[in-house]
Amino acid sequence: MPHAPFPFLMNPNLEDLEIQLLLEGIYRYYGLDFRNYALASLKRRIWTTIKSENLTTISGLQEKVLHDRECMERFLLNLSVHVTAMFRDASFYLAFRKKVVPLLKTYPFIRIWHAGCSTGEEVYSMAILLQEEGLYHRSRLYATDMNEMVLRKARDGIFPLELMQQYTQNYLQSGGKTYFSEYYTAAYDGAIFRASLKENIVFSPHNLVTDSSFNEFHVILCRNVLIYFDKSLQARVHHLLYESLVRFGILGLGRQESLRFTPYEKQYEVLDDREKLYRRIG
Ligand SMILES: C[S@@+](CC[C@H](N)C(=O)[O-])C[C@H]1O[C@@H](n2cnc3c(N)ncnc32)[C@H](O)[C@@H]1O
Repeated sequence: MPHAPFPFLMNPNLEDLEIQLLLEGIYRYYGLDFRNYALASLKRRIWTTIKSENLTTISGLQEKVLHDRECMERFLLNLSVHVTAMFRDASFYLAFRKKVVPLLKTYPFIRIWHAGCSTGEEVYSMAILLQEEGLYHRSRLYATDMNEMVLRKARDGIFPLELMQQYTQNYLQSGGKTYFSEYYTAAYDGAIFRASLKENIVFSPHNLVTDSSFNEFHVILCRNVLIYFDKSLQARVHHLLYESLVRFGILGLGRQESLRFTPYEKQYEVLDDREKLYRRIG
């Protein structure tokens, strides 16, 4: 009987193996852990980068990102989705005004964590909402993301002018109380948001996978981030969010995210099922 040429060939899926090796290399060399991100979306992003870098294989990309930091930075930007908007899902902010603001009014001081804030539109929206509800002066907003490049934009607080029409609509649908244009001045093609909105915002890098809890919060918004993680990583991050919330603190997730079937489901009550607003009770 002739021997098979590779008698120890055990894993026929070379693509998955190459992805594992790529992510392991990035983790060991750069300390960035993508090993438990959802595979389908990861694959798409890896192949997009391979094409844009004029490469042909995942192993080729591995070699390039390990030897070329700039390539790693480009890959990092491609690996995560940074799409965001001011008053994204306007009804979420409307529900927040109606159901969460009355609870926050009972606190002398309010700490809010925007975990995975991207370029900051979400945190500026919250600052506007809190100003209008008379709560901003006693609030501190922590806006974090693992990606320094998007955080830099968040700190600047300048967003494309062409988006203001859409954001004005979102703002009005979210229960906004004045003219949205009061919050920014137009300069060339940018809308520069009022500096007073930034006064109580702390922008800082934080990685939900590798960093630990850094405070106790009355509200945590972690919207449209967990959707990119696999089940085991979602459970780990839910642990971090749970232990970072005060008892009776509020958790807000994205439209397509939920606490259902997570190990922490029973530790929260549902404040608004559609808007994914929960209150820690356990
Ligand atoms: C789609 S944006 C969501 C922005 C905003 N929360 C919203 O809902 O509009 C997802 C953000 O999560 C960030 N992110 C992904 N993995 C992360 C991690 N492990 N730690 C912190 N941020 C992460 C990405 O850099 C990206 O900016």
